[in-house]
Amino acid sequence: MLKRLWLWLGRLLGRLTLLLLVVGLGGWGIGALYYASKFSGPVSSEEEIPPGEAELTRGIIDDAIRIVEAHRDNTRVLRGAHAKAHGCVRAEVSVLADLPGTLRQGVFRDPGKIWQAWVRFSNGNAYPQFDRVRDARGMAIKLLDVPGEKLLGESEQDFVMFNNSVFFVRDVAEYRSNFAAQAEGNRILAFFPGWDPRSWEIRHLLIALRTLAPAPESPVRTTYNSIAPFKFGPHNIKYRVVPAESGCPAYEPPEQNRDMPNFLRSTLYRQLSLDRVPACFELQVQRQNPEHYMPIEDTSVEWDEDIAPFETVARITIPPQDFDTPEQNLFCDNLSFNPWHALPEHRPIGGINRLRKAVYEALSTYRHERNAAR
Ligand code: HEM
Repeated sequence: MLKRLWLWLGRLLGRLTLLLLVVGLGGWGIGALYYASKFSGPVSSEEEIPPGEAELTRGIIDDAIRIVEAHRDNTRVLRGAHAKAHGCVRAEVSVLADLPGTLRQGVFRDPGKIWQAWVRFSNGNAYPQFDRVRDARGMAIKLLDVPGEKLLGESEQDFVMFNNSVFFVRDVAEYRSNFAAQAEGNRILAFFPGWDPRSWEIRHLLIALRTLAPAPESPVRTTYNSIAPFKFGPHNIKYRVVPAESGCPAYEPPEQNRDMPNFLRSTLYRQLSLDRVPACFELQVQRQNPEHYMPIEDTSVEWDEDIAPFETVARITIPPQDFDTPEQNLFCDNLSFNPWHALPEHRPIGGINRLRKAVYEALSTYRHERNAAR
């Protein structure tokens, strides 16, 4: 009797496992087919601005200011995102001497040209927290004394990135609804705005979870991506900054105690200020091929590197230096990076970049005014 019961249970479990496997594989197959048909080219190589974007942007600015104030704790007003810096360092950005003609655009016009720059490394969160907490890590570069009329700002050309290749929303409308839900504390439900499964953004939830990653060994040992697209003269591009092996002495940072709140600053200090070893990166661009699914208006989609490989346009050297002083940290806090601090040849494009223009300007002005009043 007992034996028959066991055999029956075994058969039942076997069938259940098989059923789960078939349903799982079927779901995966349907998903793969759906994305293969949805994510296929050609795409537009122009911006397509949906109606109502300006109004949504105003709502996002109001929410962002509320969040900044909510995390103030009687201190200076910090940035609305990437509030915590690991340091601002001086750097040199050298345009490749043998840059091909078609890539000689904007600040990369003159092969061999060396720009002086500031680089700010940061955690992505809206308020400072321990570096061991899962988060995105930011890198913002400001080239100094760049001649020519800018879209915004004065003499700078900025590059603003973080270390994931895609963003967790596609456009301004989704950012508005997601951000509003997150501000209410609904971090996961923000991706499930209604009962209709067609409104569920499971792929975007997975991107958000992947973006909140453990800290790298050091801020100079991870790859930073523009995520959003930009003009590059006649081309549409995304850009990224990758740690470079060549041109810099080999360096293995000593292991850090990850329970220390600011170990990313400590490891940068150890390399640049104590061991006096430079850090090197390459700045690369990826040109859009609109015959394939490389959209301008969807930052949740990665452009396929097999079709559009990244090409190096400049090298970045961060020389040994003493950066961790109260004066320099305050100076760093007061800097404003904005993708629209740019030459027209490097104009930001796509909805998320149009949104960033208004938001970064408003939030930077707000924190500077509030801090000056103290
Ligand atoms: C392509 C996607 C994005 C990337 C790569 C990115 C990256 C960054 C980085 C690295 C910083 C810090 C810059 C610094 O060191 O000062 C920053 C700041 C900021 N980001 Fe983003 N971000 C993106 C999208 C957005 C969006 C969609 C919003 C909101 C609408 C936003 C809001 C902000 C704000 C408010 C600041 C602080 C501005 C200031 O006070 O100066 N970001 N972002």
